[in-house]
Amino acid sequence: MAGFQSDAFFDQLDSSTRGIESADTLPPLCYTDPEFYEFEKEALFNHEWLCLGRADQIPEAGDYFTTTIIGEPLIVARNRAGDIKVMSAVCQHRAMLVAEGQGNTRAFLCPYHHWAYSLDGDLIGAPEMERTENFDKKDFCLPTLKVELWQGFIFANFDPEAEPLAPRLTACDDVLANYDLENAKGPELPEGVRYPWNWKVMMENNNDGYHANRLHHGPLHDFVPSGLAEFPEDLPENTAGYYRTNGTLHPDASFNPTQKAVLPVFPKLTDAERNRFLFVNVPPTLSLVLTSDLVMFLILRADGPEHHINDTGILCAPGAMDDPSFQLRLDMIYNATANIVAQDLHVDEQVQKGLRSRYAVRGRYSWQERAQTDFNDWVVKRYQTTWERMKAQGRDQQIPLRAV
Ligand code: FES
Repeated sequence: MAGFQSDAFFDQLDSSTRGIESADTLPPLCYTDPEFYEFEKEALFNHEWLCLGRADQIPEAGDYFTTTIIGEPLIVARNRAGDIKVMSAVCQHRAMLVAEGQGNTRAFLCPYHHWAYSLDGDLIGAPEMERTENFDKKDFCLPTLKVELWQGFIFANFDPEAEPLAPRLTACDDVLANYDLENAKGPELPEGVRYPWNWKVMMENNNDGYHANRLHHGPLHDFVPSGLAEFPEDLPENTAGYYRTNGTLHPDASFNPTQKAVLPVFPKLTDAERNRFLFVNVPPTLSLVLTSDLVMFLILRADGPEHHINDTGILCAPGAMDDPSFQLRLDMIYNATANIVAQDLHVDEQVQKGLRSRYAVRGRYSWQERAQTDFNDWVVKRYQTTWERMKAQGRDQQIPLRAV
């Protein structure tokens, strides 16, 4: 397979960012090639804001959960001051992970030799190190990441120089305002599932209205036909996220046998909002599907060139979970969507197999896939900028890459 380390490869990516009528899909190697994945870590994951969860997963001081992305084990914790901290879970002694799972703690005690770290990542205890020369606990704190909250979601960034996220999400804020996601509530987030396909396959599937009334044809999905897809024409040049809408054939449509909302409708929604679904994406990790009574969010955590871990959660209007019949109503939605989800997962797995083939090509798009070129705009700009930076640094033939 031809490599990607050339100007010609990055120049031809321009064709994925043209208008939808003439754009090509991304080259298949972007989804399969281990060296491209190493490049992509530098182009995207080392510098972009990465969603890791919801702030209300850790409401109390000392609450924490652990996660991983691009193979980096992380702890997300709320400290004594009430601030959310994201830090490496890797003990700075001999690399044991100092926390697993989730819980509440006063400090993180590494089980191996009992070095102890505060909720801010400071090393506060290291037994029997008095004879060790030039050892200062301040030099062995857990590395911390930048943190930002947006719409109740926790984002972290490996790059200490990263620009703030929220000012570049104003277009998404406008369409999300009436869902009041900061105050939305949902059941506990289940453990993530590792899937054998590239994170972009999942992002594109959740981003795709073209397949809706084809792959999912049937009474549980036909009320949101692909022909009612709409796309904004005025996304800001530097937007960090994008969205699309899809009209529904009746108001408050919902995925359950009644085809109507069975949970309380988000109370501030306008009539227009109650007659459409909204899809919002903040690459490379967060993808939202918003209906009148339920928000589904996917957190995509890249885990290799052909794997990612997917956290799927839901959010409901305030008070919805107080209804004694909440779980029964939710089960109506889960049962109705189980087959739809299975169809998507099957396609995702088969697409990944197809992308490995010698016969995989750069395909073309229907107008109903405009959100895919919005996604391409986001990734290609970063791929090309990173390639130019690497060339300027003389690192263009150095694969695998290391963070700078
Ligand atoms: Fe953590 Fe030794 S590896 S204390």
